[in-house]
Amino acid sequence: MRTPLVAGNWKMHKTPSEARVWFNEFLDELGGVPPGVEVALLPSFPLLPVAAEELAGSGVAFGAQDVSAHDWGAFTGEVSAYQVADLGAKYAVVGHSERRKYWREGSGLVAEKAKRALEAGLVPILCVGEELEVRERGEAIPFVVGQLLDSLAGVEPPSPDRLVIAYEPVWAIGTGKTATPGDAEVMAEAIRSALAGRYGEAFAGEVRVLYGGSIKPANFAQILAGPNVDGGLVGGASLEVASFAELVRLAVGL
Ligand code: PGA
Repeated sequence: MRTPLVAGNWKMHKTPSEARVWFNEFLDELGGVPPGVEVALLPSFPLLPVAAEELAGSGVAFGAQDVSAHDWGAFTGEVSAYQVADLGAKYAVVGHSERRKYWREGSGLVAEKAKRALEAGLVPILCVGEELEVRERGEAIPFVVGQLLDSLAGVEPPSPDRLVIAYEPVWAIGTGKTATPGDAEVMAEAIRSALAGRYGEAFAGEVRVLYGGSIKPANFAQILAGPNVDGGLVGGASLEVASFAELVRLAVGL
């Protein structure tokens, strides 16, 4: 069975001291991670040591929003997956649409980042998603499947729990618009069948496929209703303790 994952992508928000307060308030509010759901927080790099300290022993995982495609070396400003893993992080987002768009990261680079994450012992949360005009042309599924397979070139997770895919339609991120639960499910199913072609049925049946894009407590239950949707990658609604804790509760028993 796939344990649903609710992952909060804080993007470039909060200072280390604000994060410390937030983690404490969140753990108080949650009163322990409920059984049947996994929770992760993905803050910016300077906040990761604070996450490591404050979340230790809580059952709440943490991870980075990106990692370098290189393992080590003269790459000023880059952060190695090994540096992130050494802090006790579990996850690293790769291929978020903001990185694909603003830093022109292509799927080949994303695949290299996913490989470095796996080599360092992290679980890549690999993001895919189409722009609005692609959806309007009726090409969302082939586009996303192509992007997924290109981003997985040479990526060989040793087991299905070492890979998470996040479907995030670009037009739904931070816009207040969400894919309909039906569209999210259809895409999650297409992603799973592409994974079956790539890694085999049994593997694909165990990989978690998340939805992301303007998830809120008011829409999450419907999005989670699709049998192929295994949780959410949450931006804006992960910044407030109350809304993120509510999202975690909504994913229980999925
Ligand atoms: P959002 O962001 O929930 O604010 O739309 C989601 C994401 O970019 O992961």
